[in-house]
Amino acid sequence: MFGALIVIEDVSKRYPDGTVAVDRLSLEVPDRSITVLVGPSGCGKTTTLRMINRMIEPSSGRILLDGADIQQQPVNALRRSMGYVIQNAGLFQHRTVIDNIATVPRLLGWHRQRARARAAELMERVGLDASMAKRYPYQLSGGQQQRVGVARALAADPPVLLMDEPFSAVDPVVRRGLQEELLRIQEELGKAILFVTHDIDEAIRLGDQVAVLRTGGRLAQFAPPDELLSSPADPFVADFLGADRGIRGLSFFTSAGLNLDPAPVVAVDATAKQMAKRVTPDVPYVLVTDVDGKPLGWAEPARWAEGGKTLTPYGQTFEFGRDSLRVALDCAVLSPTGWAVGVDRTGSVVGVASQESVATAIRAAHAERAVRARDAAAPGTGARGTGAPGTGARGTGARGAGPAGAARRGGAGGEAGGAPGSAAGAGAEAAQ
Ligand SMILES: Nc1ncnc2c1ncn2[C@@H]1O[C@H](COP(=O)(O)OP(=O)(O)OP(=O)(O)O)[C@@H](O)[C@H]1O
Ligand SMILES: [Mg+2]
Repeated sequence: MFGALIVIEDVSKRYPDGTVAVDRLSLEVPDRSITVLVGPSGCGKTTTLRMINRMIEPSSGRILLDGADIQQQPVNALRRSMGYVIQNAGLFQHRTVIDNIATVPRLLGWHRQRARARAAELMERVGLDASMAKRYPYQLSGGQQQRVGVARALAADPPVLLMDEPFSAVDPVVRRGLQEELLRIQEELGKAILFVTHDIDEAIRLGDQVAVLRTGGRLAQFAPPDELLSSPADPFVADFLGADRGIRGLSFFTSAGLNLDPAPVVAVDATAKQMAKRVTPDVPYVLVTDVDGKPLGWAEPARWAEGGKTLTPYGQTFEFGRDSLRVALDCAVLSPTGWAVGVDRTGSVVGVASQESVATAIRAAHAERAVRARDAAAPGTGARGTGAPGTGARGTGARGAGPAGAARRGGAGGEAGGAPGSAAGAGAEAAQ
């Protein structure tokens, strides 16, 4: 964990009409990480964000940026050190895309050409085609406008990014794309991001740590998302997190802990005798691959020997060690044989895992996390400093496993469609 770039110290905001929007809030926003503020409508999220760039002044408490009280800093300089992205992008309608993005560099006195060059670079970074540079905001889709909003906020390379429900006005598919883009950009740029949303799934997907606020602007819990899912502080947080907490929490465990069995995997050119040898009382099916090790489908060796070379579609696969246990479990649940197929990065089969062995890996992951939590809580071990409490799965890319896994699922589904008996494969896809 990196040092705190923004420190909110016991901050309250009471509006003139007596509304307490934020009540003694203390939070630390570390550098190079995404901190999410989440909570029901009216719980003080926007007020908190706006106190950080001084669009709203707190009634009490103080806010530090890099150790210095923001009250002591000139407002303009402060705001330029913080990119700000809002819902519906808040673009200047009379300016082209490139000029919107170049706004802050121009304000900073950059030469027009340099500012535009920077804007063009940022268009590429946020995934906007260069051909859109001359368009006006009304000529863009909602998702494209949000990308322009992100690019504009990044233009002067500020250390801090404040984002207020930036993706909530777009449909779920576009939103997912924008979220992935943000994670990718963050991986490259390493900003201190404070991200506001009322969507708990978005908070869990994006946040390195998540602050759950309750109405009245009080902090209910501040924790990494896996800890939030496994140990909500109280019934309000549990209720806000919603259903399937246990399953969703599996996204934070890597599948590397799974015991994959390579025995029931045979190449399509194997003889019936070789194939029969792979069958055990526990595994009546074998997974047939092509000669490169790519999965083709499940076979019943006895029928195969009789010449009935039909294959049951393997459904979807998971990338061993990269996808999460949640993806592996999903594969096992959707598999017509009940076995999940683990592949390597090239798509070649590493081995298969039964639902029972996925369950065993889940139990082991929980036990490991409990040990880590105990070590972290033990005074004097310094264990906490070695990383975020939880699984450490994020570092291995397991966070990306959710979205990346979904993308891969699409690809695997396509392959399954080409396999014999693809109707069942399509069924498995539809069942998702
Ligand atoms: N200028 C104002 N005067 C009085 N009350 C205000 C003012 N601005 C906001 N509030 C109140 O302060 C509370 C917090 O508002 P805020 O906009 O911070 O909520 P929010 O968490 O961002 O909500 P949402 O999810 O709906 O955007 C609300 O009860 C709101 O009505
Ligand atoms: Mg708001």
